[in-house]
Amino acid sequence: MIRVAILGSTGSIGRQALDVIRAAPDQFEVVALAAGRNVKLLVEQVLEFHPAAIYALPSREANALRTISDAEWSEPEMIAVRSDVDVLLTATNGLAGLPATIAALRAGIPVAIANKESLVVGGSAVISALKEGQSAGAELRPVDSEHSAIWQCLWGEQPDRVEHLTLTASGGAFRDLDLTQLDAVTPEQAVSHPNWDMGKKITVDSATLFNKGLEAIEARWLFNIPLDRINILQHRESVIHSMVTFTDGSVKAQLGEPDMGLPIQIALAYPDRVPVHPAPPLDLAERGALHFGTVENDRFPCLNIALEAGRREDTTAAAISGADEAAVAHFLANECRFTDIPRLLTLALESHQPTISPDLNTSLEAEQWGHHFVDEVISSGLL
Ligand SMILES: NC(=O)c1ccc[n+]([C@@H]2O[C@H](COP(=O)([O-])OP(=O)(O)OC[C@H]3O[C@@H](n4cnc5c(N)ncnc54)[C@H](OP(=O)(O)O)[C@@H]3O)[C@@H](O)[C@H]2O)c1
Repeated sequence: MIRVAILGSTGSIGRQALDVIRAAPDQFEVVALAAGRNVKLLVEQVLEFHPAAIYALPSREANALRTISDAEWSEPEMIAVRSDVDVLLTATNGLAGLPATIAALRAGIPVAIANKESLVVGGSAVISALKEGQSAGAELRPVDSEHSAIWQCLWGEQPDRVEHLTLTASGGAFRDLDLTQLDAVTPEQAVSHPNWDMGKKITVDSATLFNKGLEAIEARWLFNIPLDRINILQHRESVIHSMVTFTDGSVKAQLGEPDMGLPIQIALAYPDRVPVHPAPPLDLAERGALHFGTVENDRFPCLNIALEAGRREDTTAAAISGADEAAVAHFLANECRFTDIPRLLTLALESHQPTISPDLNTSLEAEQWGHHFVDEVISSGLL
């Protein structure tokens, strides 16, 4: 029995993790569930899975839940270090799960990490916590499908035999749209991904390809490889989830139909491959062809902005991550256009005063600076 705690159980990844667990009640047990504001769904999950500990952000509904549930009310950082947790799934968005991720790793608890922003902003602190807790059992298991693919390709390989990594990118909602029409796209169009069903923020980031920049920075931390050895390849079908090229020229890839159930269950059950929620079978003969191409810089300026921020190895990546979070929120609220997102990020990149070798607090301040910077540009009407 693998005892699982989920931070962000009401989100896209959290709900899919519960689908995996529901399909194998004799393999997994839910120990704790933490959510944000969707208390209605959390109540349903609590009634179905009977966790020992729960959490939701403060609200009237959360207070009501506290009084009707027997489960212990526990902050995410406390959930993360419970002695009955075999694996913590960090599936929150933004930085909500970062302190809990660090606490779990320090305590020697494996973390299945979906939340890329935690690594982009706090990568150095997360890796330090991993090193601190490694002898007690701490592990970082990637959940993002690209990173899960690379992780699987690296099983049994020597790290110094890796030449480069290739992250595949579908191109998101507007990969075929005439560039002149990008100014007028709506939030509803941007949150409709051709291959994946995900939360709104990551789906907009997929349409701008900022998400792929975040993923490159995430890979840099997870696999300890510099950004200039991480390539991005456009691949429409999202069947090849990512690839590793070795020093002898050999290339390993991991394939499958797009389905987050698979990377989630691999991260929860590692080192086992439990066939609880088998991905839809991949039938290459049926697919007939897979398509590849280079990324169009004109269409996806946010990718290079994110990569440039990541290459600086100071607080810039944190600042740009915060700026993107705010820019996407303003776009989703119809307060700016889709094409304003790269404009806002460029302004943030040019205006940020970076700190070299930052500690976690400095990185968190830079992330907040990015938010405020974009909020101010929007509210001042300077765009
Ligand atoms: N979705 C995917 O397929 C996918 C794939 C790869 C990576 N990721 C990454 O995984 C993370 C989650 O993505 P998502 O698409 O699942 O996002 P999402 O659907 O927006 O879900 C976010 C979850 O975090 C919860 N949350 C927010 N603030 C919280 C807080 N302070 N304390 C506890 N819970 C909190 C939300 O609760 P409420 O809903 O109750 O407010 C929700 O359960 C992101 O970093 C994303 O980049 C996602």
